[in-house]
Amino acid sequence: MCQLFSHSEADTMKIGEILGKCCRGGELIALCGDLGAGKTLITRGLGNGLGVKAAIHSPTFSLVNEYTGRLWLYHSDFYRLNHVDEVMDLGIEEYLNPQGVLVIEWADKYEAVLPRPFLKINLAAISEGQRKISIQSVGSPIDNFSVGLEILKRDYSRK
Ligand SMILES: Nc1ncnc2c1ncn2[C@@H]1O[C@H](COP(=O)(O)OP(=O)(O)OP(=O)(O)O)[C@@H](O)[C@H]1O
Ligand SMILES: [Mg+2]
Repeated sequence: MCQLFSHSEADTMKIGEILGKCCRGGELIALCGDLGAGKTLITRGLGNGLGVKAAIHSPTFSLVNEYTGRLWLYHSDFYRLNHVDEVMDLGIEEYLNPQGVLVIEWADKYEAVLPRPFLKINLAAISEGQRKISIQSVGSPIDNFSVGLEILKRDYSRK
């Protein structure tokens, strides 16, 4: 478990970027936190770390947005899903291929059915511009992120 503090949008983006740079393909990143906590913003940072150049927006009509980069970024959002069957219909396993990284907003809604291991990132507003960002591996440690997490702990532990 790693607890970080972001003091700005730029911090949150950078935290995402460092994690994105750690990805080697096949990672699942589960984002949780209230409306406006910064899930889409950290996804944009992850996109930067994955070499995505296109503008990233939360999927609304599509269930999963796909962006090309050094690796593919597959961006999903469980906010509008109302039943676990809809998660099953997404075919999550197909997105967990070596060419891409799957990032899911509101993932805790259906956390029980997510394939392990995954990196869980919880964002919580502590003031208008500040966020507490808690990161943990669920299932088993994900080696790819270990160096990035050390860098993040060094640079973003200060409240
Ligand atoms: N330190 C910070 N990190 C992230 N966002 C911040 C920070 N400080 C302020 N904000 C603001 O919080 C908002 C985060 O919006 P964002 O769309 O990323 O949230 P979200 O968690 O994806 O919300 P939703 O549940 O609606 O999808 C933005 O308006 C952003 O400017
Ligand atoms: Mg969002």
